[in-house]
Amino acid sequence: MSEIKKRPIILDGDPGHDDAIGWVLAATIPEFEIKAITTVAGNQTLEKVTYNARRIAALLHLDIEVAKGRNKPLCGDLIIAPNFHGETGLDGPALPEPDHELSKLSAIEKMAEVLRESEEKVTIITTGAQTNVAALLLAHPELKEKIALISTMGGGLRNGNWTSGAEFNILVDPEAAYTVYHSGVPLQMCGLDVTEKALVYPEDWERIRALHNPIAEVVAGWFDFFFIHVKSLGWAGATTHDPCAVMSLIHPEIFDIRDYYVDIELSGNYCRGATVADYNNRTGNAPNCRCVMDLDREKFVDYLVEACAKFEGWEV
Ligand code: BDR
Ligand code: CA
Repeated sequence: MSEIKKRPIILDGDPGHDDAIGWVLAATIPEFEIKAITTVAGNQTLEKVTYNARRIAALLHLDIEVAKGRNKPLCGDLIIAPNFHGETGLDGPALPEPDHELSKLSAIEKMAEVLRESEEKVTIITTGAQTNVAALLLAHPELKEKIALISTMGGGLRNGNWTSGAEFNILVDPEAAYTVYHSGVPLQMCGLDVTEKALVYPEDWERIRALHNPIAEVVAGWFDFFFIHVKSLGWAGATTHDPCAVMSLIHPEIFDIRDYYVDIELSGNYCRGATVADYNNRTGNAPNCRCVMDLDREKFVDYLVEACAKFEGWEV
């Protein structure tokens, strides 16, 4: 039997319920070899999201290093989202305590180490502010060619969610996003265009809970918590943002993906942090981003349930 060709992956995020669900999904993909987890301030402070990341790594029995990244954006003050994710940044189900030491390297140096040592080009999946990735590109431009793709959850070509123009991850650090979008590195963006259609309804996560394995029960508990605030905003299902940045890599056929030139608004009274697409190629700039615009929601849910089923017999 031929061996599966492994794709080296770095998971960079600010867990966060949807980051965590995305990482559960990533851990089930046989083609993925998760090389490191790196954390960035966003949904909560850096200390909190790093502790969460280490607990998720323990939950998933990941034998990898978690490295702590930037505690604030490249410019300006940090915005956090306790309304969605609670005081811990990952309120809800109990999790195991970290079982690995925190990396002695910073997130940026850990990413650089992974890139340097990897024979294959590495995919970075970033589900928080793009601060670490931007800092990596600025500190180590020679490593750009070792990046296969940066798959991001961030932005929204048609609307924002934190302001009318901006989505949270981009608004936390617009200068970082600008650096990434102008880097020339292959980029895929799961913005609100798709993630607000990636709705997981209560009956969907009851299917996950009914799997009765410990990871599935935690995932269902994360949905329970995350949905409290999302529901109060009028949504009938949980807007399952971050898992899209993972799922669109493994099941691109269920997504509608289009190439556009996208820029980041850095100023403006209302639109700082907006992702602006040149739909009609008025700028003459070549596309710099694969923009994920839509999905087959039911297949997305089925694949999520299928991923959670892989933890049957698992012990925490
Ligand atoms: C993004 O903001 C965060 O609260 C979520 O984890 C997701 O990455 C959605 O706007
Ligand atoms: Ca996130």
